[in-house]
Amino acid sequence: PIDERVEDLLARMTLEEKAGQITQYFYFGDGTVPADADLETVPADYRWYVRQSRVVDAAIAAGGAGSVLFVHDVELVNRLQRSAVEDTRLGIPLIVGYDVIHGLRTIFPVPIAMAASWNPAGAESAQAVAAREARAIGIHWSFAPMVDIARDPRWGRMIEGAGEDPVLGAAMAAAQVRGFQGDLGGENVLAGPKHFAGYGAARGGRDYEDAEISDSELWNVYLPPFRAAVEAGAANVMGAYMDLNGVPASGNRWLLRDVLRDELGFEGFVVSDANAVKSLEVQHFAKDATDAGARAIVAGLDMEMCMTEPAFGHLAEAVAQGLVPQDLVDDAVRRVLTAKFRLGLFENPYADEAAADAVVTAPEHRDLARTTAEQTFVLLKNDGAALPLAAEGLQSVAVIGQLADSKRDTLGPWVFDHDVAETVTIVEGLRARLGDVVRHAPGAGIVDRKFASMFDARDPHIGTTPADYDDDAAMDAAVDLAAASQVAVVVVGQWQNQIGEKASTATLALPGRQQEQLERIVATGTPVVLVVMSGRPLDLRWAAAHVPAIVQVWYPGTRGGDAVASMLLGDVSPAGRLPFTWPQHVGQVPVVYSHLRTFQPDEADSRYFEEESVPLFPFGHGLSYAAFEYADLRLSRSVIGVGESVVVSVDVTNTSSRDADEVVQLYIHQRHGTSSRPVRELKAFERVPVAAGATRTVTFLLGPDDLRYWSAATRGYVQDETTIDVWVGGDSRATLTAVLEVTATPSTATPSTA
Ligand code: IFM
Repeated sequence: PIDERVEDLLARMTLEEKAGQITQYFYFGDGTVPADADLETVPADYRWYVRQSRVVDAAIAAGGAGSVLFVHDVELVNRLQRSAVEDTRLGIPLIVGYDVIHGLRTIFPVPIAMAASWNPAGAESAQAVAAREARAIGIHWSFAPMVDIARDPRWGRMIEGAGEDPVLGAAMAAAQVRGFQGDLGGENVLAGPKHFAGYGAARGGRDYEDAEISDSELWNVYLPPFRAAVEAGAANVMGAYMDLNGVPASGNRWLLRDVLRDELGFEGFVVSDANAVKSLEVQHFAKDATDAGARAIVAGLDMEMCMTEPAFGHLAEAVAQGLVPQDLVDDAVRRVLTAKFRLGLFENPYADEAAADAVVTAPEHRDLARTTAEQTFVLLKNDGAALPLAAEGLQSVAVIGQLADSKRDTLGPWVFDHDVAETVTIVEGLRARLGDVVRHAPGAGIVDRKFASMFDARDPHIGTTPADYDDDAAMDAAVDLAAASQVAVVVVGQWQNQIGEKASTATLALPGRQQEQLERIVATGTPVVLVVMSGRPLDLRWAAAHVPAIVQVWYPGTRGGDAVASMLLGDVSPAGRLPFTWPQHVGQVPVVYSHLRTFQPDEADSRYFEEESVPLFPFGHGLSYAAFEYADLRLSRSVIGVGESVVVSVDVTNTSSRDADEVVQLYIHQRHGTSSRPVRELKAFERVPVAAGATRTVTFLLGPDDLRYWSAATRGYVQDETTIDVWVGGDSRATLTAVLEVTATPSTATPSTA
């Protein structure tokens, strides 16, 4: 049994080996510089990385590292593993972690896009492929999914999550955990839902800033996706950097022990975010590195992720000083060893170098990337059925914009092991379908990329817009091309590194001169289709008023261009839905659909005197090439007792002549109770294919888990006797409604129809 093997090893470990076992190092070297090479011969900008990788090599060989991250070369992974297994006294294998966020070599759409598919099963399949590829090159653990609720689009990391809603977020969290972990066999990796907890509420959307979250919001909004991930069996959780209500999340004992372990029932190991333990000192919480390491362990972190000089290097000293009980260190080691045994690393520590390439280049993985992307597109507007484009008769299609033909940006952020060359851009996807009638003009620059990471810097497809790029001439050429074409597909958005970690923004305006260029193109009179490539809502007020068709395509991944072409040409109908409320502009944020009722709730205009308070597009919004009608909303019972369930059914008819998917959404509102409750809350959804002319009955079970909530009035979960409005429809403004009474006593009421 695993427990016995863990105890046996633990009993033989020194305190120094234990501290090493719960230390995870970044490994920056790529293995190409020989161990004995003179550092002076290494290019200056790479020297630090090589020096650091030598420190880690030495730590591994001495049994002073339990894990590494960021190694993604199968031979290098095996070399490091061999050192851990063969050079150390106890031969404990490394567990290798990595940010496999939306694919390894095959890149799937970014996570916010997968959430926009409202298809958890699709995300599960995508992450299963990501896991298979990762495991093939020796990675055992993904730092994903990010399950942080994000309600402020200024925060760049909203692209990694599932948006603003706890129910959608929970479904996507659980599905991705299942996808990564499967049965923890040889094609699976550990999932590490992150960042526990509340990182998405960073003040002002500024990355790493503190979060002030009320208990009610924490329990009702921010924690449900973590609960779902834990219930789905997540083996790991990653802590968060920021202060939560004044206490750093990584040193927050209440959060990591009382909430995560006692309330959510988490039994795996908790890793810190990178350098977050030492940051306890930077954040003026811990006195020094020894104190930081001790307080992290006491709070409930089991492994320190660090770049250099781990705080856990001082653990022996901390134990000697009585700052941390040895038992707590042992518990942390136990959890890490348990994960290694569960993965079978002691039996099978190495990746199969000969087999890896075939796995990461499997054609079926690329096909899944394409079909997954096709499910994520959100048709925001489509006046006069401007889309789909009819392929026949198209003699000239102008595709405008730098993003339209940027392979690297088509993939989005958080990719490291991709093959840029095999990425299909929108221009390439359209050309593959329509041939030479497709002409591309990059147009005006977006603005310089904010930074190129060390990975991007070595990527030949990345670069800043050259200083001598003639924006005016490029824009004139783009406008001329559009004027001379039958249709202009204008692709706007953000570079992939204008979103993500450390990519918060103070404006949602289209970067650079894209707005001006769009307005000039629309003025030519050529019909325009606007394609938005972004991971956050951008300011589309002008476009929504002047452009007939707008579609959000996110960063669609390796086969993204093919998928966008299929959608624009009508092979597939877009059926994605917004996983967040799309604001009019930055001054409106945060704006969420599930707000509380206010004093004078009907006077929406009283909230800003000079601007509308309604968003540009509501949560759950997304149009289709088909048309759907909802009818006959019925509840299995009109009255239920507290603790009982009701079945909600609705008939959905595809009244068009084209087959398509529809995302059926169920919302509720509780009219009175222990706390005030939001005007609407998503409680269930299902993406269903409905054939042309067909009717499908969709049913949902609404039970006590859906109706309970955490109340600040009682400081615990309650389910009220109350009256509940139920709506079912295609977005958060659904109008088909029924009423459910919830009484204190069990119900014997007869079925009802709305
Ligand atoms: O996994 C990430 C985390 O989300 C942010 N900080 C760095 C980690 C490792 O790359």
